[in-house]
Amino acid sequence: MTVSLKAELHVDGKVFELPVVQGTEGERAVDTRNLRSQTGLITLDPGFANTGACRSAITFIDGERGILRYRGIPIEELAEHSNFLEVAHLLIYGYLPTEQTLERFSQSVRLHTMLHEDFKRFYGALPKDAHPMAACSAAVGALATFYPDCLDPRDPRQVEISVHRLLAKLPTMAAYAYKHSIGQPFMYPDNRRSYVENFLYMLFGTPCEEYVVEPVVAKAIDLLFILHADHEQNCSTSTVRLVGSSMVNLFACISAGINALWGPRHGGANQEVIHMLVAIRDEGMTARQFVERAKSKDDTSRLMGFGHRVYRNYDPRARVIKKACHDVLGRLGVHSKLLEIAVELEEIALSDEYFIERKLYPNVDFYSGIIYNAIGIPATMFTPMFAIGRLPGWLAHWIEMHADEDFKIGRPRQIYDGATLTHYHEAERH
Ligand code: SDX
Repeated sequence: MTVSLKAELHVDGKVFELPVVQGTEGERAVDTRNLRSQTGLITLDPGFANTGACRSAITFIDGERGILRYRGIPIEELAEHSNFLEVAHLLIYGYLPTEQTLERFSQSVRLHTMLHEDFKRFYGALPKDAHPMAACSAAVGALATFYPDCLDPRDPRQVEISVHRLLAKLPTMAAYAYKHSIGQPFMYPDNRRSYVENFLYMLFGTPCEEYVVEPVVAKAIDLLFILHADHEQNCSTSTVRLVGSSMVNLFACISAGINALWGPRHGGANQEVIHMLVAIRDEGMTARQFVERAKSKDDTSRLMGFGHRVYRNYDPRARVIKKACHDVLGRLGVHSKLLEIAVELEEIALSDEYFIERKLYPNVDFYSGIIYNAIGIPATMFTPMFAIGRLPGWLAHWIEMHADEDFKIGRPRQIYDGATLTHYHEAERH
């Protein structure tokens, strides 16, 4: 990052100079770290839409041009040529692994897929209809109790083993949450299988018969994990960073990230998209009628899976997923009315002034649930799928934050506009 220019701030007849920094892709920011000490002013930016929280070398997004790159590599090339564990290595360690390095990394992850047997009692205590995101965030947080000797965020050896344990165990945790909800026995991981095949085996396998994974299904899930793997300072990644800045252990930070992702405006949107499509299908609404509802100020409905804080263009991930939708459903011989409705909603919205004016396009969540649905994954499991995919990004950002020379605890300020001095005995009571 280079300091290129100066910005001038004129306040109360004084002129303050603030450095302007520039990133490797030409993005520029006013560095305000000394603003308050210099001027007594702070910035106010609800939702941080105009605020850079940090420098990062992990993911680059150009929202105007619809560009997404992990460590400089275009998402389209990784989607076509890579696999999820290779992408996880790229994000976490900063480079693509050789075949040998990838095998060592994969083997280490494979060794940690099992959960401590006591987790069975943990899941058994949960209600049958417990949302798997609640189960996963609680289970991930509980890892801190099983590995008390691996909680130091500054010990490279403890961090390394915790990273591998999380990558290995989150799929097992998600699968266990699903099995608990349908009253089927947990399936222990089968480490002869690949990462994604093992997950599908734990999700859909039973002790009664052999479970064979459809290669087209495994490939589709691997692709979706790649596309979800990172997205710079999104809500859940920023949560992982903020919680991590208190120097708490990695398990607590990832648990917090899972909870942030659960929200319907964030990762929970993929589940809401399917609910929206099913409602349109089952209530006999037309796509046009629903789009009108999504535009109406009198209706809280939103076109779920549309819009994005950063992309003011088509989300490049949605483009890849839409194509994969047609490919996978075609090869599975699945005819999806939900896909038909989604395509019609997109066509209507993309030619509608309301969406054009607000630059609302399909995002990563718009088509992903249709693939999951066609594979037989229940809507409650869509966001845990997103969490498994996003885990490498969370880990990479957490590691980068701890190595950042600017590391400090995250503590935003505020503009107070509440009651001025009020004495206890003078305070109004109601
Ligand atoms: C993810 O940040 C990331 O990178 C996230 C993510 C990642 O990989 O981590 O990409 C994953 O979270 C994707 C987004 C998933 N969420 C949804 O699909 C939910 C539906 N979309 C939104 O609610 C909304 O678009 C957000 C939350 C995604 C972005 O919201 P912003 O940028 O804060 O915009 P906003 O809510 O202020 O909306 C601006 C205007 C408003 O209308 P006006 O007040 O100007 O009249 O656009 C409207 C909104 O009402 N609007 C929508 C809409 N999204 C925004 N109107 C109808 N349908 C929508 N989907």
